[in-house]
Amino acid sequence: MARAGEKREAGRRTPPPGSLPGAPAVYPPPRAFAEKARFRSMDELRALWRRSLDDPDGFWGEAAGALDWIQPFDRVLEWSPPHAQWFVGGHLNASANCLDRHVAAGFGEKRAIVWEGEPYSPGRAAEERTLTYADLLAEVSRFANALRTLGVKTGDRVGIYLPLVPEAVVAMLACARLGAAHSVVFAGFSPDALRDRLSDAGVKVLVTADGAYRRGGRVPLKANADAALEGLPAVSRVVVLRRTGEKVPMKPGRDVSWDEAVRRESAVCPPVPVDAEHALFVLYTSGTTGRPKGIVHATAGYLLSCALTMRWVFDLADEDLFWCTADVGWITGHSYVVYGPLAERATVFLYEGALNWPAPDRIWDIVERRKVTTLYTAPTAIRSFIKAGDEHVTRHDLSSLRLLGSVGEPINPEAWRWYHRVVGGERCPIVDTWWQTETGAIAVSPVPGATPAKPGSATFPLPGIATEVVDAAGEPVPAGEEGRLVLSRPWPAMLRTVHGDPGRYAEEYWSEVPGKYFTGDSAKIDEDGYLWIIGRNDDVIKVSGHRLGSAEIESALVSHPAVAEAAVVARPDPDRGSAIVAFVTLKGGGRPSEPLAQALRAHVAATIGPIARPDQVRFAGVLPKTRSGKIVRRFLRDIAAGEAPHGDASTLEDLSVLSALARDEP
Ligand code: WTA
Repeated sequence: MARAGEKREAGRRTPPPGSLPGAPAVYPPPRAFAEKARFRSMDELRALWRRSLDDPDGFWGEAAGALDWIQPFDRVLEWSPPHAQWFVGGHLNASANCLDRHVAAGFGEKRAIVWEGEPYSPGRAAEERTLTYADLLAEVSRFANALRTLGVKTGDRVGIYLPLVPEAVVAMLACARLGAAHSVVFAGFSPDALRDRLSDAGVKVLVTADGAYRRGGRVPLKANADAALEGLPAVSRVVVLRRTGEKVPMKPGRDVSWDEAVRRESAVCPPVPVDAEHALFVLYTSGTTGRPKGIVHATAGYLLSCALTMRWVFDLADEDLFWCTADVGWITGHSYVVYGPLAERATVFLYEGALNWPAPDRIWDIVERRKVTTLYTAPTAIRSFIKAGDEHVTRHDLSSLRLLGSVGEPINPEAWRWYHRVVGGERCPIVDTWWQTETGAIAVSPVPGATPAKPGSATFPLPGIATEVVDAAGEPVPAGEEGRLVLSRPWPAMLRTVHGDPGRYAEEYWSEVPGKYFTGDSAKIDEDGYLWIIGRNDDVIKVSGHRLGSAEIESALVSHPAVAEAAVVARPDPDRGSAIVAFVTLKGGGRPSEPLAQALRAHVAATIGPIARPDQVRFAGVLPKTRSGKIVRRFLRDIAAGEAPHGDASTLEDLSVLSALARDEP
């Protein structure tokens, strides 16, 4: 918003890139929505934003009243770059903020979670469970007591590897209740990926399930966990939830069923007061090296930003049914399935399975039956609904919806307009929310009752966030030009460190553009101050909104006995944002073949998880390298996209490699 807004009156601008001829370039907030919205004016919003940067202590000091403090803080911010401490001296408990205070205020009977399982046959009631705030508090307390009996203490780390069932939320909040950091690993990750994460996080206790339902099939979670824990004796206890019901081996002395663990535990467990900066969780995400990094979030700043963005971005009302389709294995699930909505006393809808299973309209069937008011999903999902056909949407009464959200990757203007017209009936604003595992909460987004939207633009930074688009030297680039997106001020929900590797924190985020947080994204700001995210500017790949690292996939490939070297790049994909293309060279004597390509794809899926499976494996005689032996992925990106390699090739050791690769059609 720095240059946002100064000269912004509707109707006087050239259409942004990607606009359809004749389609409006700007969508003002629909009047009926704006009339009831919490924030209705850009002037008010701009004033709020300006104050948040001019007087951060005053702004955040007041804003922190959105949380319940056990001991008030002394100072709002201590900033010694790149290390920030927010709400210094304050004590609180995140689970008490999400549960106890609502029950104490008389909302014990309000629904906290409405859950639906994946198994479903039309005409038959789907499997469902409802937990009120009082129920959830009792379950969380019981499980927190069980974790304590299993030896979990304040400051420990607990691993969570569960399907999307209410117990996943219960387990997270139970950790928070004890002041133990959770580390949730997405249930789609393979045993190797699970082991790496549990080991790096120093997890003592793991919470898992017998299995998970996925598209009618079953994922053997317990078997995966057993495989992951071989050679990882540090994980001394495993709690096993019964979900799919098959018999799984239980290791005596280590494994205990969830039911057994909670059976004798009390439903009362006083929340442990922790310091504002106490680690709430560690969540692994992909970066530029082969090793995923454990992003550490601190309790108060994170929780506060999750709560406030529920108001600013989702305009949460008491009667809303809020559905964020993300899994709790990702940051979006942490912030907008669990902490944000529950801190704000929302009713969360939770769905276990695939949005298009067993039929393409499962998602719309749910919206209609449950009367969902706010739907928050990813552009890849939206594009897949477009492909499936409008009839699956229009057959359902979606009039309960009042707000739509998008997250995880750039949304193309066509998909935005379809979402607006077909799903939202031109009545619902769309919030295109930009943020990252590292930012903790939404950082750039329209405020739906106030911001005129431009399809494809995440619009303006929220209060407390200072965005800039800069060149390699850190200087702001002119309007309309592409540059690196940086955040030039600390913000409460910022990551605090990389678990076990503070050097990596300083190096990866704060050294690319000195003194500023580098997001890893490319972006531009248009002449009206709107921010347009272009995509990653590093070796992170977003496939269907999932975040993967080139180096991680490369190290999976070279762990295959046939592979000598590998280089992995993204190729633009109209459906999933990007697709993964792997260039590999084989060890002496190895011969390229289609079966080998398939085997390598399967090997990556088995090593990391199915989401990392390359779309294409291309065999190469040699890979383009600098004289110091570093693989240059830049040229491979061009080749993968079917373009001639462009840019400065003078650093390459052997120029002929490029023409050979380009000729080497798949
Ligand atoms: C991308 C997901 C464009 C971006 C919450 C970012 C987006 C990365 C948007 C973080 C958006 C997220 N428009 N791109 N609205 N939201 N991204 O850590 O490249 O899984 O850096 O967090 O997703 O991915 P992560």
